[in-house]
Amino acid sequence: MVNVDLKGCESFIDAAQYKKSVEKALEAFDVLQSEKGAGNDFLGWKVLPTETPDSLIKECEAVRDAWLAKGVNLVVVIGIGGSYLGARCAIEALSHNFAKQLKSAKDKMEVVFAGNNLSEEYLAELMDLVAERNVACVNISKSGTTTEPAVSFRIVKEHIEKTYGKAEAKERIVAITDAKKGALKTLATQEGYKSFIVPDNVGGRFSVLTPVGILPIVLAGLDIRAILAGAAEAKKAVEVRSEENPAIKYAAMRNLLYSEYGKKVEVLVNYNPKFTFLGEWWKQLYGESEGKDLKGIFPASVNFTTDLHSVGQFIQDGDRCMFETVVNVKNATRSVVIPSDEQNLDQLNYLAGQHVEHCNAMAQLGTKLAHIDGGVPQIEVSVEKIDAKTLGALFFFFEFACGVSAYQLGVNPFNQPGVEAYKKNMFALLHKPGFEEQTAAIEKRLGK
Ligand code: PA5
Repeated sequence: MVNVDLKGCESFIDAAQYKKSVEKALEAFDVLQSEKGAGNDFLGWKVLPTETPDSLIKECEAVRDAWLAKGVNLVVVIGIGGSYLGARCAIEALSHNFAKQLKSAKDKMEVVFAGNNLSEEYLAELMDLVAERNVACVNISKSGTTTEPAVSFRIVKEHIEKTYGKAEAKERIVAITDAKKGALKTLATQEGYKSFIVPDNVGGRFSVLTPVGILPIVLAGLDIRAILAGAAEAKKAVEVRSEENPAIKYAAMRNLLYSEYGKKVEVLVNYNPKFTFLGEWWKQLYGESEGKDLKGIFPASVNFTTDLHSVGQFIQDGDRCMFETVVNVKNATRSVVIPSDEQNLDQLNYLAGQHVEHCNAMAQLGTKLAHIDGGVPQIEVSVEKIDAKTLGALFFFFEFACGVSAYQLGVNPFNQPGVEAYKKNMFALLHKPGFEEQTAAIEKRLGK
């Protein structure tokens, strides 16, 4: 279902070195599968494709049906990082590009995201929309203490309580958080919100197949069962101890390019706007899992052909610090043929009768050859088409390969100590109680 093709790297690497890297990837695979490596208390994501009970999906569907029955037409999903990117990726990949504008989508519940930034304009404009709609809210935070979602939730909660009354607010707010601890857990218990649990042994960036992803995906009217089925197929493929395993090939090649050939940046490339957020989800997965202990490949992403007219210049011609991983979608699910034009002023008649996707494929092939000629190795991750099953397979493939790759790199894939540094400074600057010493120190540093 997910194939990895390394031909676009062959001219850059030594085959014997690749073999050695595969051996190391297989050792890393053993560490992941033995469940004895660093961070082994965060491996719950490995069984989600096969062990997610249907009753959980039914519970999510019950929330959807209850909200539809109330006429809810806008769900604000609040969360940041791993508590939002997977759901957003799935919704963007599997929804109509123009769902918001289409008349036929008017009766559906629209899912919008908040709590993933601290922009005042964003929140003010969100509230303009909320004021016009029949609203419900899903507040997602594993720790239950993250500032960005907490700020948004306060504002959305206040609106819901004022508009519908406190008793009805309970029916319109769902919390997804830790089973036992955290401010959100306490609030949910106190207010009597329906709650779903983020399992203890699943970290944020590996949580798309927990309620963190499942509930928003179900609310958006998408097929979570097919996503899980695709993930289960990928699980079967990547759990085979073989040098042909796509996760082993991917981990081995990216580590080799990094460690022996100075390729410090990996660019995830897509040729379909539906996969823009696959890039965002993937960047968090690999950036937080590998970027630590002064090591790691910097994950970047581009949307082609759009970005061929911007950063394409750098990829072709700039510092040779990068390799590309192209998500190659073999078939379009829709058909648009380029028409003939009598005047042919744009001189496009040579393409008349061709599918647009044929042009996309030729752009992809032409870019591949040009980038290889320009010194950019290319890994290709291929899937048949963009659908729920394929997306589920990509989720699990990239998660599993990330575990293997990070162990091969020699880091703990499942912690993220670096994300605390900015929070400490922000709390000190905001005068959070308990941060008095840090506030004094930071203000001295800033000459205040
Ligand atoms: O991957 C992670 O663990 C992080 O990116 C978290 O998902 C993110 O910081 C949000 O945390 P929380 O769900 O606790 O609010």
